[in-house]
Amino acid sequence: MLDMTGKVAIVTGAGSVGPGWGNGKAAATLLARQGAKVFLVDVVAEAAEETRGIIAAEGGTAAVHKTDMLDSAQVAAMARACVAQFGRIDVLVNNVGGSAPGDAVSMAEEVWDRQIDFNLKTVFLGCKHVIPVMERQGKGAIVNISSVAGLRNDGHGGRTHVGYSASKAAVIQFSRSTAGAFVAKGIRVNTVVPGLMHTPLVESRLAKTVAGGDATALIASRNARCPMGHMGTGWDVANAVLFLASDEAGYITGTEIVVDGGLILASP
Ligand SMILES: NC(=O)c1ccc[n+]([C@@H]2O[C@H](COP(=O)([O-])OP(=O)(O)OC[C@H]3O[C@@H](n4cnc5c(N)ncnc54)[C@H](O)[C@@H]3O)[C@@H](O)[C@H]2O)c1
Repeated sequence: MLDMTGKVAIVTGAGSVGPGWGNGKAAATLLARQGAKVFLVDVVAEAAEETRGIIAAEGGTAAVHKTDMLDSAQVAAMARACVAQFGRIDVLVNNVGGSAPGDAVSMAEEVWDRQIDFNLKTVFLGCKHVIPVMERQGKGAIVNISSVAGLRNDGHGGRTHVGYSASKAAVIQFSRSTAGAFVAKGIRVNTVVPGLMHTPLVESRLAKTVAGGDATALIASRNARCPMGHMGTGWDVANAVLFLASDEAGYITGTEIVVDGGLILASP
């Protein structure tokens, strides 16, 4: 089950912004545990290098490629480098993204532009440069990472991040559109929609931008908002990514798996 032996997977944002397990780091490690050769893409080479060290220590195979997923030429070079190193690309996990606070009035125009690029253009560029390789192979699986912010009123959490919500909603529809365009070529495109996850960005970034530096209070309030009483983890996201990337999901395309512990159920 879920055997990835012989497959090559690119994971973007394969490091994490702090100690612990981000979604990308966990997905990359799980894909490697299942036998995939993993191409670890990150704008911070040291972050991806840490993930590579973990995979190597477990006996897996991975390589690091420093890439800014916002730069088309770098993304094209990344796809070429993966083929040069591992011979093919079976799986692409587009994981780069993140939120900035603000509503339609308070958000600076540059922040809006950056949010759309960070969350949506990175996914577009990954697909743009990897799909031609998958087309030549006649097969491929793409998993894009969205957020419940793209499906429900983000104000439930006490703050609005309109650029994040808009771009993560767009990731879902981008994935459906791309799935339709390439379904006859053997390429599947699906989306994982995480809820509130306890990844390093909670302590590293959100505690500063949302909670005035009080990570403990932020963690408690995020746990309290989850119907199961606790946030999910990068591994919960990774398990869904692995399934959608695997041959067991071979008849699944153009859809989403929501990994939110019932969050949308409780506050749509
Ligand atoms: N943690 C949550 O609660 C949560 C919830 C919903 C969705 N998500 C989504 O999960 C994804 C990321 O999760 P994570 O925990 O792995 O993230 P993370 O913030 O730990 O970042 C992962 C890596 O991305 C790299 N990165 C940043 N910008 C990049 C760029 N331009 N090019 C290449 N690499 C870049 C960083 O250097 C970092 O190592 C995002 O799309 C995020 O929106 C997270």
